[in-house]
Amino acid sequence: MTSPASPKTYHVKSFGCQMNVYDSERMGDLLSADGLTAVDSPDAADVVVLNTCHIRERAAEKLYSDIGRLRQPRADGSRPTIVAAGCVAQAEGAEIGRRAPDVDVIVGPLAYHRLPELLKQSETGRAVDIDMPAVPKFDSLPQRRIAQASAFLTVQEGCDKFCTFCVVPYTRGPETSRPAADLIAEAQALVARGVREVTLLGQNVNAYVDSLGAGLSLSGLIRALAEIDGLERIRYTTSHPRDMHEDLIAAHVEVPKLMPYLHLPVQSGSSRILKAMNRAHTRESYLATLATLRAARPDIALSGDFIVGFPGETEADFEDTLSIVREVQYAAAYCFKYSIRPGTPAATMPDQLSEAVKDERLARLLAAVSEGSLAFNRSTVGRRCKVLLERPGRKPGQLIGKTPWLQSAVVSIPGAAIGDLVEVDIVDAHPNSVEAVPVVPSKQESAAA
Ligand code: 5AD
Ligand code: SF4
Repeated sequence: MTSPASPKTYHVKSFGCQMNVYDSERMGDLLSADGLTAVDSPDAADVVVLNTCHIRERAAEKLYSDIGRLRQPRADGSRPTIVAAGCVAQAEGAEIGRRAPDVDVIVGPLAYHRLPELLKQSETGRAVDIDMPAVPKFDSLPQRRIAQASAFLTVQEGCDKFCTFCVVPYTRGPETSRPAADLIAEAQALVARGVREVTLLGQNVNAYVDSLGAGLSLSGLIRALAEIDGLERIRYTTSHPRDMHEDLIAAHVEVPKLMPYLHLPVQSGSSRILKAMNRAHTRESYLATLATLRAARPDIALSGDFIVGFPGETEADFEDTLSIVREVQYAAAYCFKYSIRPGTPAATMPDQLSEAVKDERLARLLAAVSEGSLAFNRSTVGRRCKVLLERPGRKPGQLIGKTPWLQSAVVSIPGAAIGDLVEVDIVDAHPNSVEAVPVVPSKQESAAA
């Protein structure tokens, strides 16, 4: 069985976080620049890229089961060229080739700019690149082809924090930031393609520092991006509580284009567990940061990540997590059951908890989180705001967009189109969305127009 010698089509499957989605888009840009055409289904593609994510549970198993499916011969006896990319590829490396001999290319998240070259190389045997190169990949990526109102922009990669549960410092390497000048140019090019909102991405986005240029921090970068005409909204994620400095909080007050939303994972409400996680913050210091932020920008919406069932977590520790959820009233939260990542310190800690305990705690946490989201959404009913329309709704005439607080808002506006920024009143709230109605111009306003 052979893979195609001169592939014409490709499909990139994204398994993970927003940075993984950004990387998938950029791999697509590379393959398109190389003359291949994107197709929606892996079954119709000559090249299939599996862009894996190590944060997800059983990520490696999912990769191997996808490879198993793809290697089955098609009607004409061929199979696609299979690329294993992303953090699992980085962590498992050549081991993937041993477990799944049909993999043609193994490429890590810091080396995927070499994808076209690796595909050519794979015609004569498996090509592997899991290096962490000194010259950043961003310098050799083609122009972006995105055609959406909202786009991701990776500004920082890697992590130096070494939380004891997390594999990222090993798969994405140390913290590095892209030069501000390159990011401003990339954002300008996005705006020229119709993008109106950018979300700045980084594993530790608020540790951003432009070491090549004027030493801008994230707040400086945000202020520079806000100068771009046509760019209407700026967001950023994911931040670390330790790097939430005053200048960034001030930007939330002074830069109108910076949206009032912050994703600030706490992981646990128990300072004892936070210490075992090596989080470099306590429950108290985290809450103090939020108090400063809310004093500066009272309407800011907050979201977080939580892990339940970390080794040694007692019922009392878990109750501290429930109480922080109630105290903060998050607009949204992402809850995970602790699961072992081989090679991380927590993997060999004593007192690993049973799945039954983790399941039970997760269910209680999810209930508290959805109560909080509903309360947050209800608190916004009556607000007037702008919504960036992103996709069609379920019913005819409906569109779904994002409020400044990252809520999904369902609205019917005759004549409006995806990509429009429209003024609405929020009129009703659900746990995962709000309903809005367009602001009808008053008679005086319409007469003036
Ligand atoms: N087990 C469970 N959740 C994890 N996360 C990271 N590593 C693990 C793990 N080993 C979660 C953290 C992080 C989010 C992206 O994934 O909450 O913030
Ligand atoms: Fe992982 Fe912690 Fe770094 Fe976040 S800060 S990427 S959880 S090590």
